[in-house]
Formats: sequence, structure tokens, C-alpha cells
Amino acid sequence: MYVNLKTVLEQAERDNFTVGAFNTHNLEMLPSILRAAKHTGMPVIIQTSVATAQYIGYDILVNLIKNFAEKEMVQAALHLDHAKNFDDIKQAIDAGYSSVMFDGSSLPFKENILKTRAVVDYAHARNVSVEGELGTIGGTEEGISVSQENIQFTRPEDALIFVEETGVDALAVAIGTNHGQYRSKTNVNIELLKQINATVSTPLVVHGGTGVKEEDYPNLINNGIRKFNVGTELIVNWNEQVQNLYKDSPLHRSVRDNMIPGNDKVEAVVIHKMGKFMNRKGQMNIK
Ligand code: 13P
Repeated sequence: MYVNLKTVLEQAERDNFTVGAFNTHNLEMLPSILRAAKHTGMPVIIQTSVATAQYIGYDILVNLIKNFAEKEMVQAALHLDHAKNFDDIKQAIDAGYSSVMFDGSSLPFKENILKTRAVVDYAHARNVSVEGELGTIGGTEEGISVSQENIQFTRPEDALIFVEETGVDALAVAIGTNHGQYRSKTNVNIELLKQINATVSTPLVVHGGTGVKEEDYPNLINNGIRKFNVGTELIVNWNEQVQNLYKDSPLHRSVRDNMIPGNDKVEAVVIHKMGKFMNRKGQMNIK
């Protein structure tokens, strides 16, 4: 079933798990992520940046994911990640995305609220969910960097005002994670997450999932993280496989043969993550 974010996050809240939100960067790795969801029986959020949506095509993404979700009985949402501009959001919603993120985190607090609220009004009238962001997450994503000194952790009292005034379905929080961190792991501020979770009832989102230690997952999930973003880890694994094959293969070899191992690796990584995201002892190592 093709669903919106609100639907899957409500299930995650009820059963205390988190939904994996995986960034796809091309059409090749997309079926692998969906197949992993089918394999594990977990709902999945496929997310794209605006740049990826423009590269592949909004309509193509919507049609492919809807089709897979209906035929294979997988609960899948399609989410626009980190959009900063209303026209991009409108384009995604009008094409059939079931969820969007408005990232107003670099704006003054009041402006972030007002612009997020406008997105919520447009989206909710069309049964589309909205994720907002408060505080700034470090690292680099799609070429946009936030340096360590510009990171601002989310303040629980601001989070409360933000969710009440905007009506967002999910809130991305800055608790020490960084986008694009794949060579090391970060220290997540669990105490701050606990305070935010005690203050707001909106499902919370962790960005920069690649740099989060797997041993921290249960603590994050048990303290309100219902959407868990993973992007860079898929790219790194896909590139490792594909790069090696391209180096040695003859020029007339089918590109398909060079890319299938990358896709298979992505499927294995997503299956592994989903096993952890279930947050259940005994079901953690799905093969
Ligand atoms: P990583 O690429 O660091 O896993 O982060 C993904 C993300 O948060 C997308 O918004």
C-alpha cells in the first residue's frame, strides 16, 4: 500500500519501532530498498532530495513506488527530503509524493514556523504529511555544509511551540548527529532527546543515520525516534561495489552487470538496518 508518513509513524509509535527512511540517488538502487521492505515485512520511507527528484523525475518516482507498493503489498511512503523552497514542495505534492520535509532550520524561529505552517496547510489539504526541522544538524548533504560551530541543538521549549504552531506530523531534531558521517560515529545526546520527547508528542526524526552507532538505536527508538534517515551508508556501499567492477570491466560489458552487485549490497544493508529498527530482541538479525 502506498501510504503517507503519518500512517507509518503512528504504527511505529504504537508498536515502539522506527521506520527506516532511505535516500535513493538513482533508479538502480530503488527496487533494492523496496525489496528489503518486502523481505522484512517492515514499512519503508523512500526519500529523495530535490536534486534526485529532478534527475529521475517526480512522476517516475511516484509511479514506480506506487506500483511496487500495491503489487507487492509493501507499505511505502515517498518523501521529499530537505526541501527549502515552496515551489519544489508543491511540485512533489502535485506529482503524488505522500510526504514532504520543509527545512526551515536555517531561518529565524518565527519565519521557520510561518513557512512550515504554509507547507502544512497545502500538504494536509491533499492528505500529504509534513516533517519540519528545528535546530541545525551538522555535516554535509547535497553539497550544503553546516560547520561544527554553527550546529544548534534543538531546545525542548522551542520544539513545543514549533509543533503546536505548525501542526507538523514529524519533527527532525538536532541531537548531535551529522549528515554524511561515514568514517566515524557520533555521540548522540540521549539526555536531550529524552527532554524533547517528554515535552512534545509529535514523532521525532533522526537525520545523519549513517554516523549513528548501532548500539544507540534502542535508546533512540525507546525515546521517540520514529523515522530514521539513512543515506550515505547506501551510497558508500553501492559505490564500493560498482567502482571496482567498472575499473576492470571491458567497455562493451552491460552496465547492468556492473551495477547489480551494488544494488544487491544496498538490499543487504537495508535488510540489516530494518532488523535493528524493529527494536525487538530475537528478530534483530534477519537474513
Ligand atoms: P546520512 O546520509 O548521513 O545517513 O543522512 C541521511 C539524512 O539524514 C537525509 O536527510
